[in-house]
Amino acid sequence: MSGVETVTAGVADASIDDNNEKSAEQVVTPWDVEAGADGKIDYMKLVNDFGCQVIDEGLIERIEKVTGTKAHPFLRRGMFFAHRELDQIVTAYEKGEKFYLYTGRGPSSESLHLGHLIPFHFTKWLQEAFKVPLVIQLTDDEKFLWKDLQLEDARRLARENAKDIIATGFDVRRTFIFSDVNYMCTPFYLNTLNIAKCVTFNQARGIFGFAGESNIGQIGFPPTQAAPAFPDCFPHLFGTDKKSLRCLIPCAIDQDPYFRMTRDAAPRIGGYKPALVESRFFPALKGESGKMSASDPTSAIYVTDSPKQIKDKINKYAFSGGKETLEEHREKGGDLNVDIPWKWLNFFMEDDGELEAIGKAFSSGVMSSGEIKVKLIECLSPMIKAHQDAREKVTEAHVDQFFSTEPRDFNSMFGELNGHPPAPSDGPVSFQGSEQLVAVGAPVPGGKNGKEFENQDGAADPSAPLSKNALKKIQKEKEIAEKKAKKSAEKVAAKAAAEA
Ligand code: TYM
Repeated sequence: MSGVETVTAGVADASIDDNNEKSAEQVVTPWDVEAGADGKIDYMKLVNDFGCQVIDEGLIERIEKVTGTKAHPFLRRGMFFAHRELDQIVTAYEKGEKFYLYTGRGPSSESLHLGHLIPFHFTKWLQEAFKVPLVIQLTDDEKFLWKDLQLEDARRLARENAKDIIATGFDVRRTFIFSDVNYMCTPFYLNTLNIAKCVTFNQARGIFGFAGESNIGQIGFPPTQAAPAFPDCFPHLFGTDKKSLRCLIPCAIDQDPYFRMTRDAAPRIGGYKPALVESRFFPALKGESGKMSASDPTSAIYVTDSPKQIKDKINKYAFSGGKETLEEHREKGGDLNVDIPWKWLNFFMEDDGELEAIGKAFSSGVMSSGEIKVKLIECLSPMIKAHQDAREKVTEAHVDQFFSTEPRDFNSMFGELNGHPPAPSDGPVSFQGSEQLVAVGAPVPGGKNGKEFENQDGAADPSAPLSKNALKKIQKEKEIAEKKAKKSAEKVAAKAAAEA
């Protein structure tokens, strides 16, 4: 292991807190992330509670070997730290099988903050390393149902956010971006319905914490985020076979509940369980226990911030691990475990050697907290400027081009792409899917599209009977969900009683 890995792994491990008792109250759902009593997210507890695995060195090496590409810093430094069956995607890929990527964004604000960029930067790297297609879901429906937003605003924000996503550099020849409201079509809706029928209200309550006050749109929404994990949602890209491709989903770990539900439903609707690669959270500017929030502009840096705003925010608000006085700092050194400039540099500074030197200098007191802030400003300012320049070049016609449901050539989306992406056309573009719009050369249902995942139980045909093991598993999961639901109902009742 190189020196820099030791320094950065130290930081990553420091926020993995194995003391479950201290952070018993942490909340991590797709809509709410709150640190535990000690102000930290206990990531090991999440891994245990959610039932995912930690990504180890061996898996990273296999990814490097099979793609012939050095692992992205987010992987090398443990930002993407957990997975579900990523190893099996790699095994399948080693055997020459294809897969596709699926990620998304809930368009609730005009501009993205740096945390939102994390999965998109990483997804771009995955797409280029594995040379595979990608679908990006914009859940305008989800944000309408959860936020104080009119539908037309959620739809407008979806297009605005798409411009930022496109600016991160995806290649339109193998990327499809869709808004739920625009794209919803028979193949998508069929998957949504099939998934919805597999999940009881008790299970949904256990997974997502729905309560009596939740509107019924919220309760019905999760299958809409689950469905794009099945390739036949997108006949214009992948054809009509539910098993034409396996799916890999990059996201932060807050989205895990959606995909736990999806994986449970997958064998029952005749699909592959999607694999996941999950990140920890990019911390808020004012410290790890705080939240990056659109209503508090000092809590985050946005991709629209000017160089002056970036400088001012970092200097004024970035939580420092430096000591009270310079003398004390020189003597005792800074605390890398809490210093936000250091944590942010770990995400965005590409040069491992420079990062290692900064870590050593700050922790030994040679570098002051003002100086490490300058390093962060120098790292972020050009990166955000480059993003803004790229975004300025994204036109409405480019957005239409990414949203277009015109059938693609299936095989052309995999492997090397030569030349440049085509310019967008001027004509009208359809954003709505259809059973009639089918990709050229896509696998057909009933064809042989590779072997089953080794430990994927369940039937390939939805009408086939489930195996004993699969039935046992479903029963067990049902019991767990019911227990959880009972507990959360008791909590709600106790809270209501206390408030009465
Ligand atoms: P949203 O818009 O809340 O977040 C978009 C993506 O950014 C991740 N994310 C973060 N990653 C690191 N640090 C942070 N502080 C941080 N905050 C957010 C989220 O995990 C997500 O990956 N319901 C989803 C949209 C969605 C989706 C998907 C996401 C639809 N389909 C498939 C991932 C995969 C949402 O509202 O994301």
